[in-house]
Amino acid sequence: MKRDLAKQKAQELLSKMTTEEKVAQMIQVTYTDGGREEALKWAKMGAGSFLHVLGDDARELQREAMNTRLGIPVIFGIDAIHGHGLNTKATIFPSQLACACSWDPEVAKVMGEVTAREVATDGLHWTFSPVLCLGRDPRWGRVNETFGEDPYLAGELSAAIIEGYQGEDLSDDEHILACAKHYLGYGEATGARDAYDTEVTERKIREVFLPPFKRAVDVGCATIMTAYGCIDGTPLTAHRRILHDILRDEMGFDGFVITDWDNTQSLMTQQHVSADIVDASIKAASAGNDMIMTTKGFYEGMLTALREGKVDISVVDECVLHILTIKYEMELFEKPEKKGEPGCFGKAEHLEAAKDAARKSVTLLRNNGMLPLGDGELKKIAVIGENADNVRAQYGDWTYFTHPMPDPTNSRPAFRPYVTLWEGVKEICDEKGIEAVYAKGCAVKPAEGVDESADLDEAVRVASEADVILYAVGDVIPQFGEFADRADLDLSGRQSELFYRLKATGKPICTVFIASKPLCLGDAAEKADAVITGFNGGMFAGQALAEAIFGKLNPQGKLPISFPRKTGQVPVYYNQLPGWHGGKYWDIPQTPLFAFGEGMGYSAFAYEGLSLDEELKLRVTVKNVGDTEGTETVQIYQRDVVSSLLTPVRRLIAFTKVTLGAGEAKEVEIQLKKDDFALVNAECETVVEPGDFILYAGGSSKEEDLISINIAF
Ligand code: GLC
Repeated sequence: MKRDLAKQKAQELLSKMTTEEKVAQMIQVTYTDGGREEALKWAKMGAGSFLHVLGDDARELQREAMNTRLGIPVIFGIDAIHGHGLNTKATIFPSQLACACSWDPEVAKVMGEVTAREVATDGLHWTFSPVLCLGRDPRWGRVNETFGEDPYLAGELSAAIIEGYQGEDLSDDEHILACAKHYLGYGEATGARDAYDTEVTERKIREVFLPPFKRAVDVGCATIMTAYGCIDGTPLTAHRRILHDILRDEMGFDGFVITDWDNTQSLMTQQHVSADIVDASIKAASAGNDMIMTTKGFYEGMLTALREGKVDISVVDECVLHILTIKYEMELFEKPEKKGEPGCFGKAEHLEAAKDAARKSVTLLRNNGMLPLGDGELKKIAVIGENADNVRAQYGDWTYFTHPMPDPTNSRPAFRPYVTLWEGVKEICDEKGIEAVYAKGCAVKPAEGVDESADLDEAVRVASEADVILYAVGDVIPQFGEFADRADLDLSGRQSELFYRLKATGKPICTVFIASKPLCLGDAAEKADAVITGFNGGMFAGQALAEAIFGKLNPQGKLPISFPRKTGQVPVYYNQLPGWHGGKYWDIPQTPLFAFGEGMGYSAFAYEGLSLDEELKLRVTVKNVGDTEGTETVQIYQRDVVSSLLTPVRRLIAFTKVTLGAGEAKEVEIQLKKDDFALVNAECETVVEPGDFILYAGGSSKEEDLISINIAF
């Protein structure tokens, strides 16, 4: 159903609703708080939505809702963040950060489509995904959930995954609602403290943090989730300028807005800007939150506010209208449950998509020729490290391991299929007749008081008897995620010590980084013969890494985020402003350990002949100068030479992928827009200032990987 007609129907229904029914419609109840009985009570009261409930439990609530006086269907939300991972049967994809290594909107789109199909089959309608926050400070616990540090890349991948989730039509049986979150600036909190204060100006918001959300709104994202945290003292939950004026009036958003978890209550209990729930409820609804996640007290709070004349019913009406409009557009009244495709969880095509995503996310960061491992004289491989065989670490956040349902205390076994690095390597070794041995060595996050010395000795012994060493390092749950920011990004436990001891065996060593986000790898990267990563690569991360290590796969990943050398070097994102005296900390090199856009394969690419014509068509010739076919991500950056305000030293404005055979060259064409050269001026207007620009093309954000030309407008 078209949005206009849906709105008309919503208006008609609204006119028949009592005040209590309207307020209940604004509430989203979690099944994990109070369980079935409590949820059924709220369904009878006409709650608009539930979250964290699956399958038949959801269906039961829906039947209850359809039996209420007006029979308004509920909408079920779920954190299907990289696949419908809270369901043990679902297909688990790489995390957003891992997926972003592919720099491939098609990968993101397919991930959205598969996830939508599995969510819809589970009786649900809506995922709280994607995250459009930027991962600019790796200390933040939720960097794994972002598409990395760059607004443009994040915007492109977000648009693609939203299209994958939502399809063409919100009423489609195999598609679900997307939710762009967390609006706004959540990832930029001071000190990378989750849900804390964000020191940004409106100009900076517009230049850095708004663009991905604008992109999401433009592709029709149906819902937006408000951020925790505050900007200049105003909680986002209470920020009408951002939630309403900018989002609706300016950007034209026409769906509904939901708070984050218990954010209305937090106005009182965490942020102390409301003395009571009545005031908190008024603030949240008046600012532009249409739906209130998990704060059940909103019901009485808002009813009291209305009774006492502290808020006008028109505030509630506007919120309910937004929610009902989407429900009509989804045609939920006719079919409260999407038909879905029964039994499609983890079907072959879905698993293949997860495998493809994992393969395209594998990123090779260093290689002195050790990789790919050939057969020949290779007799024995040592695989060392906890994360080489730790499916929980491989999956990362937001699966049934981190968020078991419906009982949050219930830990789950691991469900197949999945392939860890050790399993992936073993399988290839078995095929090739190579002996593979595994030793854990040390825990990533050691239990207190446990002496691991014997385990380290054993790992070194195993390694010294092998021809090459694959050493997995990284992080584990609960070193990341919500409430889990890190002050120290160095490898934890005895991982670095073990690296030195393995290195001392004199065997070639490849560091395999299986982690949620960049860490300070130090010598485990700098003194390794090869470094490869797939972050939290999902079900088939281990297989994809093993294939890359043995050259069955030519890695094509590029980093969507920079790696600091030391924690004190953050922020180390590539699009820095100029002007720092010396441009570096005196005690470490200027550059990050690995830069945004960096990533190599077994081919090499050369660039020449960069040009831009009057129609802003960019052309550049890319040549595969290696001896094997490979895929390159062509990255286009610009720099404004002189501008009225400081502008970044480089800014990504376009990218495309090209696959070339050995020795093959191709002219790549990319259509640019004038706006790609815009800045946000002091008046907060987006303008292109006349003058000179530098246009760059190449295989990473690093100066030495780029060719450039000067242009002028
Ligand atoms: C959270 C998160 C948000 C998530 C929501 C529902 O605390 O911040 O990303 O979607 O709760 O689980």
